[in-house]
Amino acid sequence: MDAPFLIGERIYLRPLDVDDLDRCLRWINDPEILSTLGRREPMGRAAEKEWLEGQYKSDRHMNLAIVVADGDRHIGNCGFNAIDYVNRNAIFGILIGDKDAWGQGYGPEAARLILKYGFEELGLHRIGLEAYSHNARALRAYEKAGFIHEGTLRESYFRHGTFHDTIVMSILASEWSNE
Ligand SMILES: CC(C)(COP(=O)(O)OP(=O)(O)OC[C@H]1O[C@@H](n2cnc3c(N)ncnc32)[C@H](O)[C@@H]1OP(=O)(O)O)[C@@H](O)C(=O)NCCC(=O)NCCS
Repeated sequence: MDAPFLIGERIYLRPLDVDDLDRCLRWINDPEILSTLGRREPMGRAAEKEWLEGQYKSDRHMNLAIVVADGDRHIGNCGFNAIDYVNRNAIFGILIGDKDAWGQGYGPEAARLILKYGFEELGLHRIGLEAYSHNARALRAYEKAGFIHEGTLRESYFRHGTFHDTIVMSILASEWSNE
């Protein structure tokens, strides 16, 4: 295992490194993946490098590499953005870029590892996220990880020539269970 930070059953989460840069760049610019995210613009190498290097310079965000332990295969990234230590909130984000790894439950497993860290180590009270109604895989994965659908911003997201809903989900510390 390469520098594990949070260890699960089949995966572990480790800090991102410059060696991960090209892989992350490929994932973030994949049109199928980009269509699930809030951003639309392609990402250049310089911007991706800046993003990666910024991850551990501030305690307001923390993104980690998701690695399948069997073979030490880096399949994606997940973490917290906009950590707010006054209101004890954070925004969760995940991207599994290796499409062969989709649909195997790695997303919910990674989410639960980072939720545990957020609630038990960072003392967070609420962890939220936004996803889009056309991304049924993500909505199901979030539900499996314990997130609850709390609201719908109707037709707020324009993609592929049509409007989609933005789905707001969250999990509170009181709802967190590591069973
Ligand atoms: C979204 C993502 C994190 C989910 O992780 P994952 O490891 O693939 O998730 P899972 O293995 O739990 O599979 C997703 C679930 O959705 C279901 N699913 C897949 N496609 C579906 C569809 N079109 N409609 C309904 N359910 C669907 C699967 O059957 C599975 O549920 P099940 O275990 O009850 O059968 C991952 O696929 C990913 O990163 N995708 C690309 C980027 C992205 O969408 N990021 C999120 C942006 S908000």
